[in-house]
Amino acid sequence: MTPGTDQRDTDFTPATAVAHANIALIKYWGKRDKKLNLPAAGSISLTLDALQTETTVAFNHDLSSDYIELNGRILTENEAGRIIRFLDMLAGPGRAFASVKSMNNFPTAAGLASSASGFAALTLAAVKALNMHASPEELSRLARRGSGSAARSLFGGFVEMRRGNSDNGQQDYAVPLFDENHWDLRMLIAVTSDKQKETGSTEGMERTAATSPFYKSWVESQARDLDEMRAAIKYKDFEKVGTLTEHSCFKMHGLALSANPALLYWNSVSVEIIHAVKELRKQGTPAYITMDAGPQVKILCQPEAVPSIRNTLETIKGIKSILECRPGPAAALKSLEKVYN
Ligand code: PMV
Repeated sequence: MTPGTDQRDTDFTPATAVAHANIALIKYWGKRDKKLNLPAAGSISLTLDALQTETTVAFNHDLSSDYIELNGRILTENEAGRIIRFLDMLAGPGRAFASVKSMNNFPTAAGLASSASGFAALTLAAVKALNMHASPEELSRLARRGSGSAARSLFGGFVEMRRGNSDNGQQDYAVPLFDENHWDLRMLIAVTSDKQKETGSTEGMERTAATSPFYKSWVESQARDLDEMRAAIKYKDFEKVGTLTEHSCFKMHGLALSANPALLYWNSVSVEIIHAVKELRKQGTPAYITMDAGPQVKILCQPEAVPSIRNTLETIKGIKSILECRPGPAAALKSLEKVYN
């Protein structure tokens, strides 16, 4: 049976899922197919325990429209468009309308990967609420349709998003590399703004691919970064992981800056933090920067470096808050049934 098409007599049981955000160590920036959301290259991320989305989905034939609530606020039709299109894709034509209630415990759409945890939690909850069965691989492919980075948030720890070779996207899904217990790292997030970003990642990626003279080199250089990162994580070579992480971040932002018009996601506080972390490193504290499509600065380090990084960050005016994250778990239904063990 195709879910959603002929389910008048089916009991729709609401389902709740929790997913954690992830931050890419090797960045994803560019699509080879917009409709299916296929990445131009693979990426590697770390799932974070402290950034979480909890989403409850209930399909109901008695609803006369979809009801989408994010952080306690009802979204307008326009704001909810991406979620509604995702539900249409998932449940098929003639589906029952849905009530979706989602809560983030961190600022939304400011470069803190809310779309990753958001679409991962939505995928898991909606699949369960539709009584569909999907393997972890299939769940990841579905989450990818909502947001490329969401495909990675289904899994815990270190995760690789694969770039497939076919046009239908069957090979474009994420796989867990090492779970959250593999290596006790920390990611400190310096929140420098809680405003929504000006240019979302999809639009930014499109503009970059269309206008940057460096786009082709970026795509071609990803395979080597991925190979090196996989090995560095496996052998817990922190300096190597940190160096590759920072390189991939600045390469992505350099690429974004080379788009026309340029995409600049940093603010002046971000730049101050970048210099401060460089200085810390000079003084012997291993710490490495990464940033996404927003002005927050993420600092990758080992547990023993946290106090000195915090001390430095506390001297920088303009940092609104500091979040401390550890490697986080896989997405799970509220009954705590894991997607992948
Ligand atoms: O999946 P999206 O559309 O949220 O894009 C994610 C883009 C970056 O966060 C900048 C990089 C990444 O790999 O997560």
